Amino acid sequence: MRVVFLGAPGVGKGTQADRIAGQFKVAKISTGDLLREAVRTQTPLGLKAKSYMDQGKLVPDDVVIGLVREKLDDPSCANGFVLDGFPRTVPQAEALGRVLTSKGIALDQVVNFQVSREDVVRRLSGRRSCPKCQATFHIDFATPKVEGVCDRCGEPLVQRSDDRRDAIETRLKVYDEQTAPLVRYYDERKLLSPLDASGTVEVVFQQLSRALAPYRVT
Ligand code: AP5
Repeated sequence: MRVVFLGAPGVGKGTQADRIAGQFKVAKISTGDLLREAVRTQTPLGLKAKSYMDQGKLVPDDVVIGLVREKLDDPSCANGFVLDGFPRTVPQAEALGRVLTSKGIALDQVVNFQVSREDVVRRLSGRRSCPKCQATFHIDFATPKVEGVCDRCGEPLVQRSDDRRDAIETRLKVYDEQTAPLVRYYDERKLLSPLDASGTVEVVFQQLSRALAPYRVT
């Protein structure tokens, strides 16, 4: 299974990518997670990416394309992958196409997550994240077992620096200007599949599982 999860910030791509990758036994490749890990461990790439991310702007294409190219070579992708948050610009989509072609493989589907702007803002402003293992929670919709503590690794949860009101606004604007054109890009290539992602986490997961079942590798 080789799929892309496309959609505005906060629509639930990461939450579903985790679950689908587990269910279908494929790799989850999240450029946001990879970049946050680079920032946390203060690698040269992380130091370069941090100021873009804090402001809610996109990190330069060459940086993220390099990250994804490296990940796609990993043996964990042998069964397939879910790309979460990549591609995000037309040049990134073109680069992905070239990398996959050079490997003799192609995308199966691009799922376009759709949620109202109001819900997106509510989901982002209530999100709490684990800085260590990147698990995400929500103060109303996905509460951890112990308030403020990661279920998975026990680390104290934090609010992401780009989940502040001003950064959220920038991210939504950047999405409209730079990422939304990918809807048409993939529609023209007959890969786009719209998903009403406004239901609960469980409802959306069931919808996605059904939609992606044809691509399961047995
Ligand atoms: P990234 O981490 O990719 O952020 P994003 O795309 O803005 O997506 P989010 O992680 O904010 O949202 P999501 O859709 O994954 O939602 P989630 O599942 O967490 O990127 C961060 C930054 O890195 C970018 O701004 C940029 O600077 C840089 N970057 C990353 N990729 C890049 C690229 N390709 N090119 C250039 N720069 C790049 O859910 C959100 C909340 O809602 C959670 O609290 C969750 O619990 C809750 N929730 C989820 N589903 C539901 C539901 N069904 N009902 C109710 N609540 C729900």
